[in-house]
Amino acid sequence: APQAQVDLRSFIRDLPDYPSPGITFRDITPLLSDPGAFAAAVHRLADLVPADTDVIAGLEARGFIFGAALAHHMGIGFVPIRKAGKLPPPVHRYTYDLEYGTATIELRQDTIPTGARVVILDDVLATGGTAAAGATLIEQCGGRVHHLVFLLELAGLSGRERLAGRPVSAVFDL
Ligand code: PRP
Ligand code: MG
Repeated sequence: APQAQVDLRSFIRDLPDYPSPGITFRDITPLLSDPGAFAAAVHRLADLVPADTDVIAGLEARGFIFGAALAHHMGIGFVPIRKAGKLPPPVHRYTYDLEYGTATIELRQDTIPTGARVVILDDVLATGGTAAAGATLIEQCGGRVHHLVFLLELAGLSGRERLAGRPVSAVFDL
């Protein structure tokens, strides 16, 4: 397929020293605005999702963009894991550490059927804190974390280690 030739890395824009000195921000917006690159990204994400997956759970905010497109492409449902204070109760809530401070994410208690095979989807795996928190929420809601799938893995940050042996795949790494 022509999409196999798309160099997705070339659609990631590096912004040095953003949001703070020494950090390089990986900007996915050039990839989203190019129809061929966006389609190629969704197809390659789909290649990493096990065929028996029941639902895609996307992590706010960038995991919503890819996760919703992927779920639609695969003909399965989508569930949002949101930043705190956005979902109506009852929710499960998980707070995790960032480099400075903490973050809290939430998942509606009734959105995951018991035993459902859930794939967690996000754009970037960095330290793994966000994805590990999402995995904990899926399990608290009675789902099974079938696989975690990312567009981009920042391999130097050892995010996989934080995911405690769960299956992890990424389209490419940097
Ligand atoms: C970024 C990225 C991942 C997360 C990865 O999201 O989209 O969700 O960080 O980092 P980690 O592996 O160290 O947890 P961010 O919270 O910056 O915001 P956004 O997706 O809402 O833009
Ligand atoms: Mg994010």
